[in-house]
Amino acid sequence: MDLPYIEPYKIKTVESIQLSTPEQRKKWIEEASYNLFKLNSDQVIIDLITDSGTGSMSDKQWSEVMLGDESYAGSRSFLKLEKTVKDLTGFTHFIPTHQGRAAENVLFSALVKEGDFIPGNAHFDTTKGHIEYRKASAVDCTIDEAFDIAIDHPFKGNIDLQKLEAILQKYPKGKIPFVLMTITCNSAGGQPVSIENMRAVRALCNQYEIGFYIDAARFAENAYFIKTREEEFAEYSIKEIVKEIFSLADGMTMSAKKDGLVNMGGFIALNDPKVYESCSTFAIMYEGFVTYGGMSGRDMGALAQGLLEGVEFDYLESRIQQTAYLGKRLDAFDIPVLKPFGGHAVYIDAAKFVPEIPKEEYQAQSLAIELYIVAGIRGVEIGALLADRDPVTRENRFPKLEMVRLAIPRRTYTLSHMEYVAVAIKKVFDTRKEAKRGYSIKWEAPIMRHFTVQLEKN
Ligand code: F0G
Repeated sequence: MDLPYIEPYKIKTVESIQLSTPEQRKKWIEEASYNLFKLNSDQVIIDLITDSGTGSMSDKQWSEVMLGDESYAGSRSFLKLEKTVKDLTGFTHFIPTHQGRAAENVLFSALVKEGDFIPGNAHFDTTKGHIEYRKASAVDCTIDEAFDIAIDHPFKGNIDLQKLEAILQKYPKGKIPFVLMTITCNSAGGQPVSIENMRAVRALCNQYEIGFYIDAARFAENAYFIKTREEEFAEYSIKEIVKEIFSLADGMTMSAKKDGLVNMGGFIALNDPKVYESCSTFAIMYEGFVTYGGMSGRDMGALAQGLLEGVEFDYLESRIQQTAYLGKRLDAFDIPVLKPFGGHAVYIDAAKFVPEIPKEEYQAQSLAIELYIVAGIRGVEIGALLADRDPVTRENRFPKLEMVRLAIPRRTYTLSHMEYVAVAIKKVFDTRKEAKRGYSIKWEAPIMRHFTVQLEKN
């Protein structure tokens, strides 16, 4: 008989959770214009809005906070982080930024121009935002299996090579600066990409003489899936897999708020000295001098340590198994969830959960609001609100999947919290037939509207 897995850590500090009633939450969400981003955290019981920057740091990371060197140029903390990133990834150049989208801003300033096309696997919304802001287009080449929640494919984040090659053939060389691969693929449900797929994409990029960059926010979780699902790598250590991944790319952008196990931070790492030079100029303009790039010395120290802890197998196993625990509990209740379960989050298929609500009335947002009112759980809509309007036609875009994402912060909640979430969702599921109307938009921003949108109940 196998022993169950355990979290490979003990809890040293606790933060209390404010409990509340459904009546209080009904009032609070109305005051927040039915936008979960506008709630105060004390109005939330279990906060699954994101796994980004919401995890717990270890005692060793907190020690790094005390050791932080706050020198403007060439600090010890910078050098420590630079060495860690170079050792871990094998890239030769490194620039810190204050978070992932800042890394995108700096790298894309150097590489993306008006009229360009950036193929990839379901680009994250800030990534798409930074591409579209430059009047370029993000082209989604994710495999079709990713859009069927029931298909059990081990690497649903993979790029469809035929779709990619069709794009590479369609546009002249100068129009495609690079392919961008997101690991794990957040927008497709936290699904991993295989090394086999990365190798094939690299080969196509070589053939068409274009760059290959990785959005690496959850690279360690992706490496865990490779170890456990891709036979060739079963005996590899996570660190060896990580090296293999990055050896295939020209560079990476990183939101360190995920697998860096810190609350704030990001970076770019790459090989081409010319791209580095160009990025350095933009980094200085947007982020700060190249040896801090928007981060304090103490934050860089904590990130250096976090990156090492983030690639420990035991940590990753408990992380991925906690997510799977919630997924399996929901599955056992016959709640429609995306399978296989992703690394950082469980995704509920809202279109199937509340089929009576018209899709024009934002099914996933309606479900997320109901879950908040019933149990104080804050998930996030990954559906039509997030998909936003087409930048040219200004028509609403309705994505293939209309989901609520329950993103699990790292090393923060216990299995009993997951159990609470599972039972709460079941409670909402039992009364789902009563939900017939959703919400309409009262006000929206011209880009990335979901953060600030104001809604009214229909
Ligand atoms: N890339 C991916 C794949 C992401 O998931 C995120 C952020 C970013 C880039 C941007 O990084 O937030 O540090 O600027 N994802 C968060 C989320 C916000 O909730 O999934 P950032």
